[in-house]
Amino acid sequence: MSFDAMWSALESVGRHPRTGGYRRFAWTRDDTTLREWFAGEAAARGLDLTQDRAGNQWAWWGDPDAAVAAGRPGLVLGSHLDSVPDGGAYDGPLGVVSALAALDLLVAQGFTPARPIGIASFADEEGARFGIACAGSRLLTGQLDPDRARALRDTDGVTLAEAMAEAGHDPAHLGADPGTLRRIGTFVELHVEQGRALVDLGHPVGVGSAIWPHGRWRLDLAGEANHAGTTRLEDRRDPMLGLAAAVLAARSTARAHDCLATVGKVLVEPGGVNAIPSRVTAWLDARGPVDLDVRTVVAGVGAQAGVEPVEESWTPETTFDAALAGDLARVLDGAPLLSTGAGHDAGVLATAGLSTAMLFVRNPTGVSHSPREHAERDDCHRGVEALARVARELAG
Ligand code: GLV
Ligand code: MN
Ligand code: MN
Repeated sequence: MSFDAMWSALESVGRHPRTGGYRRFAWTRDDTTLREWFAGEAAARGLDLTQDRAGNQWAWWGDPDAAVAAGRPGLVLGSHLDSVPDGGAYDGPLGVVSALAALDLLVAQGFTPARPIGIASFADEEGARFGIACAGSRLLTGQLDPDRARALRDTDGVTLAEAMAEAGHDPAHLGADPGTLRRIGTFVELHVEQGRALVDLGHPVGVGSAIWPHGRWRLDLAGEANHAGTTRLEDRRDPMLGLAAAVLAARSTARAHDCLATVGKVLVEPGGVNAIPSRVTAWLDARGPVDLDVRTVVAGVGAQAGVEPVEESWTPETTFDAALAGDLARVLDGAPLLSTGAGHDAGVLATAGLSTAMLFVRNPTGVSHSPREHAERDDCHRGVEALARVARELAG
């Protein structure tokens, strides 16, 4: 099936009718639909489908274990199919659909790979439902403890273990999967660019060089519920004041340390217009070029809000294999090298010591994590061609 046909097949899955954004969250019905779609695409191509102990899907062209035994493990392409709340169509799916289309192109060209080629669809990359970004690749590589993962809760109180079971997957199997990891000789993730560097440089495709250190922290702000019309200001314990301080501190400390900090999710309990809240829970996302500066921003926000931020996830600075990135830039006729502040499964695999690279496809507005995220169709096709050229180089 062509890129365009696959893209059309996915267009309606998990799309919210009012906002036009995607709400594709881990272990939901839409997630199951996407998993079934991936399995169907694998079957249509005669690929061998497996699911690892972390819930990630793999479709193999060739025998990955024979290649491990022969000392030349496979080349894996892929990305994820889940989204942030009201996300765009491209963040994730572009990498999975492009990988399948690149494989089709290789077959059409009569290419015979010298090592197996796998296509991966990682589980729960955005962490939109259970809070931990790249949960599938972190579990796979042992960077997320399976007991902790099983106990994570969504905002309705459903645990990840319950959600997995409801979706028909046994959460008891969750855990690191060295057998799957051994099969990956090289991983290449194609992704929509989440900035405007390629627009400015006039290139349709770039090569990833590094990912900023980044993390997520929870701010637990305690208060006391009381009547909005009868409680004197001096008698109130209003956790919203701590939240306001946190939001302002996120902006000012990030600016002071050349970082980025965002409070994008807040839970206010009980959420009545005419009641002082009993509790506010807020999540802080902080990123920047230097680990220590990010940590300083988080501490500053906590101090201003009067709470100790609880770290939910942390990803240190990731530098992709420089020799591999250089090779890919050469294969792609001098494609520019780009670093990014966005997290990716490729970064998690690189942290685990795997040889990993990324390709970025031009995004004309730079907007991402929004329904307005976009890539021109012609650029998507050029991304597929670039990925096929890279595969010929790495699996030839
Ligand atoms: C993932 O897209 C992230 O950067 O949070
Ligand atoms: Mn994303
Ligand atoms: Mn992504």
